[in-house]
Amino acid sequence: MRDVLITESIHGAAVDALRARFDVAFLPELWKNAAELAERIKEFRAILVRNQTLVTSELLAAAPALIVVGRAGVGLDNVDVAFASKSGILVTYTPDQNAISVAELAIGLMLSLARSIPAADQDTRDGRWSRQKFPGVEMYGKILGIVGAGKIGYLTAKRAQAFGMKILAYDPFLGPDNVYLSELRAELVALDELLTRADVVSCHLPATPQTAGLLNAEGFRKMKPTAYFVNTARGEVVCEADLLEALKRKGIAGAALDVRGAEPPARGELELLPNVILTPHIAAFTREAQGRVTKAVCEDIARVLEGRPAQYAVNGGLVTAVRR
Ligand code: MLT
Repeated sequence: MRDVLITESIHGAAVDALRARFDVAFLPELWKNAAELAERIKEFRAILVRNQTLVTSELLAAAPALIVVGRAGVGLDNVDVAFASKSGILVTYTPDQNAISVAELAIGLMLSLARSIPAADQDTRDGRWSRQKFPGVEMYGKILGIVGAGKIGYLTAKRAQAFGMKILAYDPFLGPDNVYLSELRAELVALDELLTRADVVSCHLPATPQTAGLLNAEGFRKMKPTAYFVNTARGEVVCEADLLEALKRKGIAGAALDVRGAEPPARGELELLPNVILTPHIAAFTREAQGRVTKAVCEDIARVLEGRPAQYAVNGGLVTAVRR
């Protein structure tokens, strides 16, 4: 029996420490080949993944020795947690460890949209000095609509407040007396109202059956023609075809997407629009966040392999019969 199978590019001191104590197989391209992964996983007690490995019920069923899935990140849309729980497999993740980095990128994308930073940079590199070509707008005094007011939404709003923005929040799981919303002096509103009033809409929702395609044509039609849309959460929450249509008819002023429905995405029309900024799901990819994420997930895998409780178990209370 082997210990840990790493199926994506996860490096660093914490991985080295795990290697020093356990038998670790590092196969960072394995997520691309579901059949080979299902074959290899048979002999492992733990699997360590980011968001690209699809930890489906079929894969878990093919892993009789598996006791723990370590998710280096916060989104759980690639892990069948319900099936893992039924099978007695613990799932651990790393809540909060990358939240600051994601919030910082969301702010960076907002400023980039408002001041056309990527386009102005390219224009200058191309040998021009077009000072009149990039009239920007200030964040000061504008309304930021946070769609999903969890940790990352909260941290984004907090940073936006430093720019003098007013905060609206939509979150079906929170009430108006929520302590974090009160601290932000944020107004909790319905999604339609948020989309209608916000100057910048920043998406921080997880991908679930309930949020799939939540931001669609109907919502984009409600937004102001001067408004910007930023998504650093999950591509599945946005209907990309509807966003493209809104951008093309100038129904909104611009969009910045760090996440896409399919990753990597096929090249399409979004890539050709000047008022769109695209990045390759890098929100959590800072030195600091990755250090924290990797440490947390590797430590939890080690704990579970040694029979100790995990610090960040997703399904600790739900696992009916932990395998040994
Ligand atoms: C997360 O869910 O933690 C981030 O989107 C980064 C990732 O998926 O690896």
